[in-house]
Amino acid sequence: MVNLFFEDSTRTRVSFEAAAKRLSADVINFSAKGSSVSKGESLKDTALTLQAMGADAVVIRHGASGAPHQLAGSGWIDGAVVNAGDGTHEHPTQALLDAFTMRHHLVGDGVPGAATGRDLAGRHVVIVGDVLHSRVARSNVLLLRTLGATVTLVAPPTLLPQRVDTWPCETSYDLDASLERADAVMMLRVQRERMNAAYFPSAREYSRRYGLDARRLDRLQPHAIVMHPGPMNRGLEISADAADSARSTIVEQVANGVSVRMAVLYLLLAGSDERVEEWRERRN
Ligand code: CP
Repeated sequence: MVNLFFEDSTRTRVSFEAAAKRLSADVINFSAKGSSVSKGESLKDTALTLQAMGADAVVIRHGASGAPHQLAGSGWIDGAVVNAGDGTHEHPTQALLDAFTMRHHLVGDGVPGAATGRDLAGRHVVIVGDVLHSRVARSNVLLLRTLGATVTLVAPPTLLPQRVDTWPCETSYDLDASLERADAVMMLRVQRERMNAAYFPSAREYSRRYGLDARRLDRLQPHAIVMHPGPMNRGLEISADAADSARSTIVEQVANGVSVRMAVLYLLLAGSDERVEEWRERRN
């Protein structure tokens, strides 16, 4: 398996590496920094080079939305392609590990929707912050709706995508009005590296209107959990009180990421297990 990372990562890259190693795969870590990409080598030539070395799967993170799809459809490599985050588009394995974590905390035994796969039905997830630049938000909205949850995106108007009305979720500008019925609150990182200063209110104003702090933490339902995909801007979108509280699942999300990524790699790379075949048939 090749970890092909054109953008920085801690959690995703390391957890894919740990997942592959736990499945006894060989792992090559490729980071654009320090490679021939910095001399101008294209995605195509990079992919052809990796293919020549015999990659069975490529896990790619890229700053361009759609790069994994281009790689998967290009014929440049024979192996499976896994999206580890592309631009502001999607981060599917993050959504899988987030849903896994929610299911663990919010769904008890005898899951009502389990037979239909809608086992988060009746649950309400509030996703807060820089939705405009967030691939995590889009993947979560799509997956959580598939699992039956209701999702509300809360953000300042300048940090919501223009076509958000076409997404299968509600939107709000008012965090305080959205908190009380939340079963899970997912705070998003403010991606200052992707934004023009004009998009962003001052850090103090953002934190006051959209930050999760001790006061807002107290207003959550007793069972509600606090999530963040990481990396966090402590003191901006989330206070230390909230990040380190008993409600926080942030570290657990990272641990679950290894298990979920093991499952993804197993489904893509393992041999002829009956369940894998069933899954492939359903997918086709
Ligand atoms: N959540 C996430 O994608 O984190 P990294 O950027 O550290 O991989």
